[in-house]
Amino acid sequence: MCGIVGYIGHRDAYPIIIKGLQRLEYRGYDSAGVAIYDGKGINLAKTKGKVEDLKKKSKETISVEGNLGIGHTRWATHGVPNDVNSHPHYSNSGDLVIIHNGIIENYESIKKELIKRGYTFHSDTDTEVLVNLIEEVQKTENVKLGKAVQIALNQVVGAYAIAVFDKKKPDELVVAKLGSPLAIGVGENEFFIASDASPFIEFTNNAIYLEDEEMAIVRLGKEIKLRKIKDDSVAYPNILELQMNIEEIEKGGYDHFMLKEIYEQPRAIKDTYRGRLRADLGVIKMAGIDDHLDKFLNANRIIIVACGTSWHAGLVAEYIFEDLARIPVEVEYASEFRYRNPVIHKDDVIIAISQSGETADTLAAIKLAKENGAFVFGVCNVVGSSISRETHAGAYTHAGPEIGVASTKAFTTQITVLTLIALKLAKEKGKINDSEFAEYLEELESVPGKVEKALESNPLIEIISEVYKDSTNCLYLGRGYNFPVALEGALKLKEISYIHAEGYPAAEMKHGPIALIDEQMPVFVIATKKGHYEKVVSNIQEIKSRKGKIIAIVTEGDVQVKELADHVIEVPETFESLTPLLTTIPLQLLSYHIAVMRECNVDQPRNLAKSVTVE
Ligand code: M6R
Repeated sequence: MCGIVGYIGHRDAYPIIIKGLQRLEYRGYDSAGVAIYDGKGINLAKTKGKVEDLKKKSKETISVEGNLGIGHTRWATHGVPNDVNSHPHYSNSGDLVIIHNGIIENYESIKKELIKRGYTFHSDTDTEVLVNLIEEVQKTENVKLGKAVQIALNQVVGAYAIAVFDKKKPDELVVAKLGSPLAIGVGENEFFIASDASPFIEFTNNAIYLEDEEMAIVRLGKEIKLRKIKDDSVAYPNILELQMNIEEIEKGGYDHFMLKEIYEQPRAIKDTYRGRLRADLGVIKMAGIDDHLDKFLNANRIIIVACGTSWHAGLVAEYIFEDLARIPVEVEYASEFRYRNPVIHKDDVIIAISQSGETADTLAAIKLAKENGAFVFGVCNVVGSSISRETHAGAYTHAGPEIGVASTKAFTTQITVLTLIALKLAKEKGKINDSEFAEYLEELESVPGKVEKALESNPLIEIISEVYKDSTNCLYLGRGYNFPVALEGALKLKEISYIHAEGYPAAEMKHGPIALIDEQMPVFVIATKKGHYEKVVSNIQEIKSRKGKIIAIVTEGDVQVKELADHVIEVPETFESLTPLLTTIPLQLLSYHIAVMRECNVDQPRNLAKSVTVE
């Protein structure tokens, strides 16, 4: 869960690397480093802290001129975040320098062996072991860097995206990938290396995404050579033309990416159903489903695997698949599913949901399901990501890059895709008739406008946030379709404002959590008109009689809850199954404002990273 950037070409490498690292800070931000070859030697600077700290340190301590360089932003796995453990790492001779995203699991045994051969180590990292292993292979086998990397990687167990160069051969960069993402931007006699395309998108739209177990020797003035790490056979580069543009990865006038992404939701939801939903023709067209319709129609059950917010979207999908299409659904944390010896049948359909498409546990769950013969369908946002490639078929959410660590538009667009799938299957299975189907499509098309309306409550939400910003605990309650929204609301608050929050099905309150309620406890209740409204109103009364503070998300025009609650936030009326797309909006804004008021780093909360590529 780190970000890597590299450059070789005719431009100054340093500014490209620093800017690239800043764009990749969503992947980790506890330390950072850069190594530049200046025509004579390697200048390396690294530090605990953010890329901004690295910028200061490198300007003060090293020469940053040169056309070859690598940089790293870290989320610590082996060794605490400090200057020494930061990347890049030198080999013992000082000739090789490496950056690495991933984990080398057998590094301790390799390290012992290298120590016996006279190597010394300065850091606690697995990466320093790897660069010295490469050096040792180079020496003992008398091979070039590319071959040494290939031999060394065949001795390691784990995951990696690496970039390494040798100061004795400064016209080439060697990169390799297994389990962690690595993109190569291909320009005019220049190459960019990065964990995703954002560091090089203003220079080139042409990118190669390395497959697992592939490596490349990127050499100036030469064509890129791709090889299979296992057997050194030639692999052929597939150069993709990227659609991403620079505006999508900048803040565009907003103070934070999270706020920008919250406000992008009307557009993002529209982009998700664009070209798929044809209300005028009464059809939903989704190639990934159309091509495998029999798998879905004959499915014994659907198992959804995901983590975090994506898991919450999976819970919403469970309600809608069972409700509309009458297909049994189980929703599993990928991290539990992969290790608990689950029963998987050949006629189970697995849906893996992931914004990044790189989450290690979700990837492992997919592999397990495939080994057991199940059909695996991916719902991802990042095009070309590992999960999108590992699954048999899938549907992209088309949300556009999500950079804030807290997922917002990923959640609503995942729900939109899953709703389209459920509706399509319901229609194919004859569980809803043509007019119900048409009404649904029409309502779904009205959702972006209703999200816009929900966003208009922002000034009110800011005022409410001021009241509760110093709380130490919060409860979030919802029922039915809005129970997962309660979980998601609580997750948003904890991850960016560090306030303890719990989500519960409202009716579960009296089985324990009600004991927590007193005049200090804010309780956020989703109480929209449809979906057990009267029952939620009773739950609100139970909270009120114990003096809890009630902040309710209600349907426009509600009067009953208004009389009971301390604050109400209105959202437009819609079908019950679509309410999560609206009720989640005020909860996102609430956690955003509270985090800003508490002076928390909204886009890069402590201890977190955007894609969790370690288990
Ligand atoms: O990229 P993924 O959707 O697979 O990520 C899953 C979780 O790591 C992610 O949703 C995480 O919980 C977010 N920080 C939530 O805001």
